[in-house]
Amino acid sequence: MAILLHSVITDLVPWRDEIQRLAPELDVRIWPHIGTLEDIDVLVAWLPPDGLIESLPHLKLLQCLGAGVDQLATLKLPPHVPVARFVNNEQTTGMVQYVVAQVLRYYRKFDVYAELQAQRLWRRLDHPALSDCRVGIMGLGELGAACAAMLRQFGFPVFGWSRSPKAVDGIQCSAGFEQLDEFLSQVDILVCLLPLTPQTQGLLNMARLHRLRPGAKLINVSRGAVLIEADLIAALESGVVSAATLDVTVPEPPAADSPIWSHPRITLTPHIATVAGLFDSVPQIVENARLIHAGMAPRHLVDMSVGY
Ligand code: NDP
Ligand code: OXD
Repeated sequence: MAILLHSVITDLVPWRDEIQRLAPELDVRIWPHIGTLEDIDVLVAWLPPDGLIESLPHLKLLQCLGAGVDQLATLKLPPHVPVARFVNNEQTTGMVQYVVAQVLRYYRKFDVYAELQAQRLWRRLDHPALSDCRVGIMGLGELGAACAAMLRQFGFPVFGWSRSPKAVDGIQCSAGFEQLDEFLSQVDILVCLLPLTPQTQGLLNMARLHRLRPGAKLINVSRGAVLIEADLIAALESGVVSAATLDVTVPEPPAADSPIWSHPRITLTPHIATVAGLFDSVPQIVENARLIHAGMAPRHLVDMSVGY
């Protein structure tokens, strides 16, 4: 029984050390130093390299090194190998901070004040009553629900949209594509926290952006491919959307000649809305490895048949 850690961007030595501090009984290896392939029963990876999964005959769990699993969609996983993802406090708190910061920035017009300062203008602007700034959250999962709850605490009217119907205190919930237009039509600031799946790919297109309240803002922190970027640029040009914050793009980073880099109404961040940090994530790896070794079901499993 051994855990194999794989990443091409994260230094996994501190992760291995922390796993071994919490669980000295676990055998932890870092790719490409795999040792005996038959030993590996838990693979921790964002996207395993081609052929790795097939080479591990006793694999019992793929623990994704993040929250989203769309990158695994084309992977050929044996049906008996479940996929788990990170769900933890540090990750959720980071996302709430990012989303609340961007919503407040738009609500209090800090983006416009930055432009005024650049023009050396000292000008006071009105901002709407809180009750007139309706925030819509697409995706009421671990991250979307936490953002919705915090925005509600600030006093914003919050609308949520998900796949299955939900009842969340203080949030006006709707679900399914049949209620999507109605949901969008109420929104001044739209926050996208949907997973990328065949159903959500390209969902934010021109027709849907047109449904938003006039001059709405968009904050996309889910995956770039949920949004048709060319439609966003056109919607910004025509004023249908007045500003956008993009933490995710296609590709990442955007192409050198992409208008996203220099568009005056787009704020771009390099996929940093939140990260699954080591200290909250390692206990999840340890817990899931112990559950697997005890023959029990791991936690935070993903349903790969629906893509999240
Ligand atoms: P969850 O799986 O917990 O929640 C997903 C939500 O989206 C659920 O409410 C689900 O509905 C809803 N949903 C899924 N498909 C549809 C659909 N077709 N129509 C309507 N609603 C749908 O995910 P998380 O909240 O943990 O994460 C969301 C996404 O955020 C991740 O998949 C990832 O892409 C992104 N992310 C981005 C990060 C960043 O730094 N930018 C960091 C971490 C994650 P239901 O509740 O009915 O199932
Ligand atoms: C994730 C991400 O899904 O970083 O964890 O986007």
